[in-house]
Amino acid sequence: MIEVIFITSNEGKYREARAIGEKYGVEVNWMQVEYLEPQGTDLKEIAKKSAEILSEKIDSSFFIEDSGLFVEALNGFPGPYSSYVFKTIGNSGILKLMEGVENRNAYFMAVIAYWDGNKVWTFEGRVDGKIAKSARGDAGFGYDPIFEYEDKTFAEMGDEKNEYSHRRKALEKFFGWLSKR
Ligand code: IMP
Repeated sequence: MIEVIFITSNEGKYREARAIGEKYGVEVNWMQVEYLEPQGTDLKEIAKKSAEILSEKIDSSFFIEDSGLFVEALNGFPGPYSSYVFKTIGNSGILKLMEGVENRNAYFMAVIAYWDGNKVWTFEGRVDGKIAKSARGDAGFGYDPIFEYEDKTFAEMGDEKNEYSHRRKALEKFFGWLSKR
């Protein structure tokens, strides 16, 4: 069994990664480390820089994940600011911004940055869906209740979300690569 450390303060992300890892024979272990996330407009750059900052504190290899919700009609907002926007205006704020807007297209994007002890490797995943008209479901976390994939929101799916999520796609690439090393 391959073991990897996932540094995140988000338990929801950790649970999802752990469940997906089990399918790939990878044991994901959770570590929480406080650090100041660098700001920027590009998820990949933010993830890469975060891993570099953390590599100065952590002796072993590890990975982090940075993700965001990108709404087409809002020109990609909240994107790299998803975490802050969730804490401030939340799902009801996004729904308000989308009132009367016909184009509901949105996607989640995840970038994994893996520090192997020497350098950072990145892996990306994306899932396309729509912003729901109202929040539905109580599983998952974050924007799950307002993100529709086909006819259900991610929060109405429970574990089924792990088959389609951006995080799953990024983790699949990462775990596949890791198991061939
Ligand atoms: P960060 O990657 O920790 O900076 O956070 C990104 C933000 O996007 C979090 O606050 C979550 O609320 C949101 N987010 C990321 N992935 C998901 C997901 O799978 N479902 C719902 N919200 C998500």
